[in-house]
Amino acid sequence: MFESKTGIFLVAGLGFFALAFLVMGLLPWLIYRGEPILTVDDMVQKGIVPEFVELAERFPKQFAQYFGKPDEKSFAAAIRRGHQLYVGEACWHCHSQQVRPVSNETLRWGPVSHAREYQNELQMPVLFGTRRVGPDLAREAGRRTNDWHIAHFFKPRAVAPLSVMPEYTWFFDANGVPNRDGMALITYMQWLGSWLDHYPYYQGEGPAGPGPAEKVNMRGI
Ligand code: HEC
Repeated sequence: MFESKTGIFLVAGLGFFALAFLVMGLLPWLIYRGEPILTVDDMVQKGIVPEFVELAERFPKQFAQYFGKPDEKSFAAAIRRGHQLYVGEACWHCHSQQVRPVSNETLRWGPVSHAREYQNELQMPVLFGTRRVGPDLAREAGRRTNDWHIAHFFKPRAVAPLSVMPEYTWFFDANGVPNRDGMALITYMQWLGSWLDHYPYYQGEGPAGPGPAEKVNMRGI
């Protein structure tokens, strides 16, 4: 069998398959099988992201109408709706939610994603994503301001001239103010990765990551 290259490749192929299955399937399962699967209500116990409060201050009338007050209950509702939209609008078709330990991704996005981050109801089914037409979003929390997201969802090319991301004008009312869905989606974006001890991008603080978004040229992807 080993006289031919085919035999060696066959054994190597099966070996790598078994290794991948062990390291990426079996081991995480064994390590995390006792971990509880968190609900959104569990997750918001960590706190409300400041951007949610900022939305309430900036659009008081609309926010009160859509969400009431910016508390844990309304925050959880906004995240749930934002997540539904993310799935329904197929954002995952162009975006991943997993920082991988390759290609210096940590320099761009912060700490590599941890299996524990996926033990929650918003990751069932998982939103790792396989395609990266756009950047990874697992650490999007605080990376951009609400204003940036508003401009970007309304017209991506207004802030990223070469963007191929579609315009999501239906997330806005006639005056160009984000509607309930728009605010929910922005809240979901501002929440992704906020479970880390430091928001890696929030005001440029945190152990890893390039700092404030302005310093990073995201146009050239
Ligand atoms: C056709 C592919 C495509 C789809 C679908 C898409 N995007 Fe994007 N997205 C991109 C590309 C390309 C970029 C990078 C250029 C830019 O900023 O527009 C991007 C950038 C972004 C950014 C900015 C990330 C950063 O900090 O630089 C966010 C946030 C985002 N997308 C969210 C979404 C959401 C939410 C949806 C679904 C409602 C979505 N995208 C759908 C391609 C896509």
